[in-house]
Formats: sequence, structure tokens, C-alpha cells
Amino acid sequence: GAPVDADISQLQPGQMLTVEWRGKPVWIVRRTPAMLEALPTFDDNLRDPASDQSEQPEYCKNEARAINQEYLVVVGICTHLGCAPLYRPAIGSPDVGADWQGGFFCPCHGSRFDLAGRVFQSVPAPTNLEIPPHHYVSDSVIRVG
Ligand code: FES
Repeated sequence: GAPVDADISQLQPGQMLTVEWRGKPVWIVRRTPAMLEALPTFDDNLRDPASDQSEQPEYCKNEARAINQEYLVVVGICTHLGCAPLYRPAIGSPDVGADWQGGFFCPCHGSRFDLAGRVFQSVPAPTNLEIPPHHYVSDSVIRVG
């Protein structure tokens, strides 16, 4: 499949946009400083906090799972059975639960992921969401693929 370019120039902090790459949805989330600061606090409750078992390019094998930590680029397909997780950035999202810390929630069987796409313990999904190969063409364009 051909690479696809995502224009991130209009993406506001906390927002997500979707592009399609190889028939898959790829999400780009512009994370806020608060979202980034929260990531390390989840490590003890994650199945694969350092992404050792999970799929990502070597250059994204870090806490934020990103080249530029402000932008998460992630395949929007649950690693359990392939459903589409929901973007639920707000803490205590009403449809997820009062203890929700913000991230992605898969409605099919309840898998929970943080805002780096890392899976929490005690849910069916075995690994973190996949990070696709990508790079920055410019400050405002990310090329996926
Ligand atoms: Fe997402 Fe099962 S497909 S939890």
C-alpha cells in the first residue's frame, strides 16, 4: 500500500484525526501536557508498559511511543479481536466509568488502553495498539507508511 499523508496543522491539543492506511484506520492524537504527564503513572497497571511484546517501529519504543511525544500515531484496531476502540480522552468518561483515566476503550469486550495505546491489565487485549511506520515530512505533515 501507498503511504498516506496526514495534515496536522489544524489539530488542536486533545483532538484526534483519522487517516486510512492500507485499509486500516490510523489515528493521530495531539496530546496535551497533562496527558503526557499522566503516562508514567499508569506503568504499574499496564500489561506491557515498555512495549516489549508490542508492535511499533524501533524509533517509537519509548514511554510516549512516538517520534515527537506530542503526537501519537496509532492503528485504531483493537489487538484482541479487531474491533474499533473509542477515543475517550476525558477522565471519568460517563460511558466508561468513574475510574477511567482517559484513553481508548474497546466496547466489544472492554479492553482499555492509555493515551500511548498501551493496554491495561485484566482486559482481553494481549498487546498494546500497533504503531505504524511513519515520519515527519514537515512540522505539519506526518507520512504514514
Ligand atoms: Fe477489543 Fe475484544 S475486540 S476487547
